[in-house]
Amino acid sequence: MNAFELYNPTKLVFGADKVGQLGELIEPYGKRVLLVYGGGSIKTTGLYDDVLFQLNKIGAAVFELPGIEPNPRLTTVNKGIAICREEKIEFILAVGGGSVLDAAKAIAAGALYSGDVWDFTIHKAVIQEALPLGTVLTLAATGSEMNGNAVISNWETKQKRALGSKQVYPRFSILDPKLTYSVPPNQTVNGIVDIMSHVFEQYFSLTTDVPLQERFAESILLTVIENGEKALADGRDYDARANLLLSGTYALNGTLPNGVTTDWATHGIEHEVSAIYDIPHGAGLAILFPNWMKYVYKERVGKFVQYAVRVWQVDPTSKSDDEIALEGIEATRAYFTRIGAPATLGELGIGGEHLDRMADEATRFGPIGSFKPLTKEDVLRILEASL
Ligand code: NZQ
Ligand code: ZN
Repeated sequence: MNAFELYNPTKLVFGADKVGQLGELIEPYGKRVLLVYGGGSIKTTGLYDDVLFQLNKIGAAVFELPGIEPNPRLTTVNKGIAICREEKIEFILAVGGGSVLDAAKAIAAGALYSGDVWDFTIHKAVIQEALPLGTVLTLAATGSEMNGNAVISNWETKQKRALGSKQVYPRFSILDPKLTYSVPPNQTVNGIVDIMSHVFEQYFSLTTDVPLQERFAESILLTVIENGEKALADGRDYDARANLLLSGTYALNGTLPNGVTTDWATHGIEHEVSAIYDIPHGAGLAILFPNWMKYVYKERVGKFVQYAVRVWQVDPTSKSDDEIALEGIEATRAYFTRIGAPATLGELGIGGEHLDRMADEATRFGPIGSFKPLTKEDVLRILEASL
């Protein structure tokens, strides 16, 4: 097991109708609040009114930044930074999915930095401080509700980049499974795939003798596989939604990477596809991940055998390790297809025009991933297999 440090200061407030605690959670940080939200789902569901009611109860001065895009944009983040400075904002409240949360984190860091917030994504500057932020999550997917990461797109340069800092962990996140009832099937699917992909990135590792981390990972996968289908069959199944929501948080809150070397190559490749084509993150991952698996599994076939047997209950009797591993990978693809995720870039109207650029950008600092470090040529092969 590798040495590691675990730090996570986010207070999780989980359960039905927990938005009622919003006022008391915000009050210690101040009353000048920037409310950040997306394209309007929170108005349709009534959550917007509930949040404003809670903010009014504590006498907060509320400023709003609506219109955060899926794959949130730098231009929108800059609008939020400007409001924070002009209005002397003391607290940022993000209400929505991962994109809204990520935008809020970038705004929180950018508001207290004199340079361009993009500097943090290109390692030109390190986040030293940030405004405090809290979240009300409405979609099970990214884990952004309990981590210090954010992913922002620069639409002018067609780059999608991450920033990360312990300064931007949410001070609290409210997770009410009922707030995810309205998530449409396609976004539910994207979330399922994203959660599973976060587990894959940390599970397919060359680190051995880490049974606890492996079983944590497998338990999240099994929970998501089962409850994902239940939530799709009945969007108002409270327990299914609750189990998905908690799985999403645990998949990326710093639990799984403890003591193991993680990979993250597939996320790196997906971000390059999204940067050019603005596709949903989960859809890109559904296409790419089984192809990454097929490309790399021979590096440690035993891990893929374990995955096939424990997660997909593949019967290993009289089969070679390669056969078992490939059956597990096929089961992954079959599940994604069964729940309605795309299997090829072509299904999203993406052709081969920009594959070279995507592979180039993904490997701009050298080979990516650790299970099998991927060169530009390797990334190209995976992208070609995904067409
Ligand atoms: O904008 P609104 O109207 O709110 O609609 C959103 C959006 O259209 C809708 N939605 C959210 N909650 C809803 C709802 N619709 C109905 N009812 C609800 N309760 O869903 C659509 C997608 O929302 P978005 O926030 O974009 O989805 P997601 O949570 O999947 O976030 C994706 C973004 O997070 C980044 C991705 O790259 C992508 O930009 N990631 C962030 C990570 C992190 N911070 O740790 C890690 C991830 O790997 C990922 O890269
Ligand atoms: Zn992801």
